[in-house]
Amino acid sequence: DLEGSLRPKTLREYIGQTNVKERMSIFIEAAKNRGEALDHVLLYGPPGLGKTTLASIIANEMGSGLRITSGPAIERPGDLAAILTNLSDKDVLFIDEIHRLNRSVEEILYPAMEDFCLDIIIGKGPSARSIRIDLPKFTLIGATTRAGMLTSPLRDRFGVVTRLELYSIYELKLIVKRSAGILDVEIDEAGAVEIARRSRGTPRIANRLLKRVRDYAQVRGNGKIDHETASKALDLLEVDKLGLDNIDRKLLDTIIRKFSGGPVGLDTLAYAIGEERETIEDVYEPYLLQIGFLSRTPRGRIATQLAYKHLGISIGGIYDEGE
Ligand code: ADE
Repeated sequence: DLEGSLRPKTLREYIGQTNVKERMSIFIEAAKNRGEALDHVLLYGPPGLGKTTLASIIANEMGSGLRITSGPAIERPGDLAAILTNLSDKDVLFIDEIHRLNRSVEEILYPAMEDFCLDIIIGKGPSARSIRIDLPKFTLIGATTRAGMLTSPLRDRFGVVTRLELYSIYELKLIVKRSAGILDVEIDEAGAVEIARRSRGTPRIANRLLKRVRDYAQVRGNGKIDHETASKALDLLEVDKLGLDNIDRKLLDTIIRKFSGGPVGLDTLAYAIGEERETIEDVYEPYLLQIGFLSRTPRGRIATQLAYKHLGISIGGIYDEGE
């Protein structure tokens, strides 16, 4: 699939996250030289920054197998036991949304991570006894949007804890050009920069926008992507000059018009715009905070002057225009 083929397979091909790459390359080389499994790795940060990609690169660079699953997919302790007992030595087990593991499953994971063993209770009542099963030495790579959502016993069992940051426009431009090469679509510098500018710091969004701009160029243009084609296509998608979509604008507009610019509590805001609190925190806020449109205070969220300006609302000139 296209999403798969756009994914880099080696650290060298992986653009951005310079610090993470350097650290991981050292830990990988050291573990390989010792002939050991890599320590467990926790990756956290907003969605779409390449956590799954990085996990598959790590497995690839280690020369290890990769098993991909997610917190919600592992419903019972037995599900996790089945996965763990099927791993081979030095395999990478990737658990996406690891903060969503339920408690009984999480408790199986502690001895598995720490001592590479499973403690299983067999039987019931007075005849019940516990048996210990040894597991292969594996590497757990956990991914979550916020490290703070993990319980501390789980977080403490990761030897490497790494935060992924939003990408710069320059890095996103490189990703767009690389992806355009793989998709075999011609793109010039200004076209790539325009897509990068509107990708809210996120490679997954950059690659998605590239595909939609390619569609537009194919049908309405000559198939090539330049600044004008990219701009027109992205305007049509209602992705504005800074990459804000309708929900970002609704969020800011609501803070400004309904709550006089804030502060407004997250739950109140979530209710007002009809989105989940977690979605606002994980998906929308990181970029709005990064570009300085939003600020977080103990009493709630505030829209900054930059946000007023971008939405064309003058401070002091707010009227409730009604619905
Ligand atoms: N595609 C998605 N994320 C990428 C990255 N960080 N580097 C290169 N290509 C990517």
